[in-house]
Amino acid sequence: MDQERLLRELNEFLRIPSISTLPAHNQDCRAAAEWVAAELRRLGCHDVAFLGSDTHPVVWGKGPDVPGAPTLLIYGHYDVQPPDPLAEWTTPPFEPTQRDGKLFARGSADDKGQVFCLLKAIDSKNPMVNFRFLIEGEEEYGSKVLFDLLKREPQRVRADAVVVADMSYVAPGWPAVYSTLRGLCYGEITVRTSKTDLHSGEYGGAAPNAHEELARLLTRLKGADGKVNIPGFYTAVKRPSKAELAAWKKLPFNEKDFLNRRVQGKGLVGLKKYSVLERLWALPTFEIHGILGGFTGEGAKTVIPAAATAKVSMRLVPNQKLATVERQLTAAVKRLAPKHVTASVRFLHGADPAQIKVDSLPFQLLDQAFKKVTGRGTVPARAGGSIPVVPALASAGAPVILTGIGLPDDRLHAPNEKLDLKQLWDGIEVFRTFYELLGGQQSGVRSRG
Ligand code: BES
Ligand code: MN
Ligand code: MN
Repeated sequence: MDQERLLRELNEFLRIPSISTLPAHNQDCRAAAEWVAAELRRLGCHDVAFLGSDTHPVVWGKGPDVPGAPTLLIYGHYDVQPPDPLAEWTTPPFEPTQRDGKLFARGSADDKGQVFCLLKAIDSKNPMVNFRFLIEGEEEYGSKVLFDLLKREPQRVRADAVVVADMSYVAPGWPAVYSTLRGLCYGEITVRTSKTDLHSGEYGGAAPNAHEELARLLTRLKGADGKVNIPGFYTAVKRPSKAELAAWKKLPFNEKDFLNRRVQGKGLVGLKKYSVLERLWALPTFEIHGILGGFTGEGAKTVIPAAATAKVSMRLVPNQKLATVERQLTAAVKRLAPKHVTASVRFLHGADPAQIKVDSLPFQLLDQAFKKVTGRGTVPARAGGSIPVVPALASAGAPVILTGIGLPDDRLHAPNEKLDLKQLWDGIEVFRTFYELLGGQQSGVRSRG
């Protein structure tokens, strides 16, 4: 492997600040799409096309036709999360830098570095596989463009298998495949208490305060014990089987290490009667991301805010449904807000949870590939995060392999995101081996017919 050239090419990709949620970066998203398209053309793809959007297009491509060979759809995303707080980065987020065998940059692990592995694993040996590519630019903002595209053109996901590399090992040396992803319901709760802001001396003591009402509402929606008090919220939640819970106990996961090394806080919270892994992987959540309103500038201003808004989201688990949870939250907000308050909810984006059977042939082949390259096969795990479009990728019946070559401490969405270079080189080797094994299965792999 020409590591120097590969690193140069990956750095080029990582230098593009393709932040999908910020309109100021639309041109950069477009540039990242162009980078992917050029790469697909280099691989000999025909039909390379930008679909669905001028600013955040889905990059589609079809590899060279190999009659009779299995079809593999590769999914990934070229967009990234905003890099703030910038001051906490040791080196700038869009100037990829190597330190201690790691590559630091926004997107190095989520997901540009992993898309890079999937693409670079298709080398000149031309594996006997019919490749299809869907590399999107809006994953970090709910995947609306790709959703709409797949609704119009569901045949794009027809394949014998789909591979998504947008997760990590469960621990160093422990590659994984994921049987569930949590869904997401993201919205804004707004509370209004008066027509305009009011002088807190003239009115304080008798006029309602929007921030105070919002704070009370939020703590009613989720108690200090970690329980979400939205009526019906837990009804559809399916507990993992005894066998699955027992298997998690054997994973190299330690609650104390998780607190001290990963969270780096003073204590864990949540529903105490469930293990930490169950809380992270198999239970739904309610989180407050930010609160807007009132006076937050420098200095002091004596005002009673008339309105306050909280950005919140809930992670959903099988068998919760996004549409049901949206209704449940709206009803709970209406019910928990006092009469003197106008409370409303606006939903920004969301996704159903995904559940995948991890025992079909393509999973066995990936397991073999990991074993061959890293010395250990894949363990089945669950993912706390979300990839909105996964249920749609599974809709044509192909098994969707959720895996990844990152590590749990890659700091996705946070300052100093990184990818270990060993993971990068192993990752390319693993996927190369996987494609070879898949190509060797001229007929047995078919999931259709
Ligand atoms: N790669 C992540 C999803 C992920 C992270 C899965 C960790 C498993 C473990 C993905 O890019 C992501 O961040 N998704 C967003 C989706 C949302 C914005 C709709 C998420 O989970 O917050
Ligand atoms: Mn991702
Ligand atoms: Mn992400």
